[in-house]
Amino acid sequence: MESTILKIRNLNAGYQNKWILKDINLNIEKNKVTAIMGPSGCGKSTLIRCINRMHEITPGAIFKGEIYLDDKNIFEMPPSDVRKRIGMVFQRPNPFPTMSIYENVIAGYILNGIKIKKAKMDQIVEESLKKAFLWEEVKDTLFRKGTFLSGGQQQRLCIARSLAMNPEILLLDEPTSALDPKAQAMIEELIVRLKENVTLVLVTHNRSQAARASDYTAFLYLGELIEFGKTEKIFTTPKNKKTEEYLTGKFG
Ligand SMILES: Nc1ncnc2c1ncn2[C@@H]1O[C@H](COP(=O)(O)OP(=O)(O)O)[C@@H](O)[C@H]1O
Ligand SMILES: [Mg+2]
Repeated sequence: MESTILKIRNLNAGYQNKWILKDINLNIEKNKVTAIMGPSGCGKSTLIRCINRMHEITPGAIFKGEIYLDDKNIFEMPPSDVRKRIGMVFQRPNPFPTMSIYENVIAGYILNGIKIKKAKMDQIVEESLKKAFLWEEVKDTLFRKGTFLSGGQQQRLCIARSLAMNPEILLLDEPTSALDPKAQAMIEELIVRLKENVTLVLVTHNRSQAARASDYTAFLYLGELIEFGKTEKIFTTPKNKKTEEYLTGKFG
């Protein structure tokens, strides 16, 4: 059974006096992976940064429209609530450099002033690292700095840090593009596994990654949503000429 967790309605967003995203309407289905594709500069990052209300903290950001999370407009919710329910992972792994692996995982609680008992904290750290396929590699070095880890491990640590907050949605902005092929493959597998518990929105440049890992694909071009549908359909029988050209590698 499909159910929609997030509804983006007539979303426009940009910077200073220039609109980048134009009238985006998009449904994100629960417990699925939705890939956001499109050439560099088309507005993919801007779009997902609207979804957890990060866009509006960019100086000069402009936006209008609505985004409904379970039928509640996120622009009428406290931003910190939105960011607790909708996590984000970036292209470059960004563990907090002064914190240990353990502290990184629990950082969302510390930074939000959420008080929990030590035993509960240990449990959240272990569970989150297990969910992020990292536990076995770090269980004996939890109190070393996260920055000692390899790039792929750091990215899984950032995923664990997001998962620790139990988000309903996880936004991933080109999470594997700075990683080597082996680390990429592992995170891709992880993404597919995670959808049992969380809804994923995956911005990716990597066409074969989108084809393998996503259930739905949205194709953005010059700030417009050109085509959206089941990934299999978009990749085999795209309706729009631009989508086809992009997916067959004719540009960007
Ligand atoms: N902070 C900013 N100030 C001004 N323009 C920006 C800013 N961030 C992004 N842009 C512009 O918005 C457009 C879309 O950027 P972005 O959403 O990052 O695209 P993508 O993620 O698809 O590469 C680009 O033309 C980019 O130059
Ligand atoms: Mg981007």
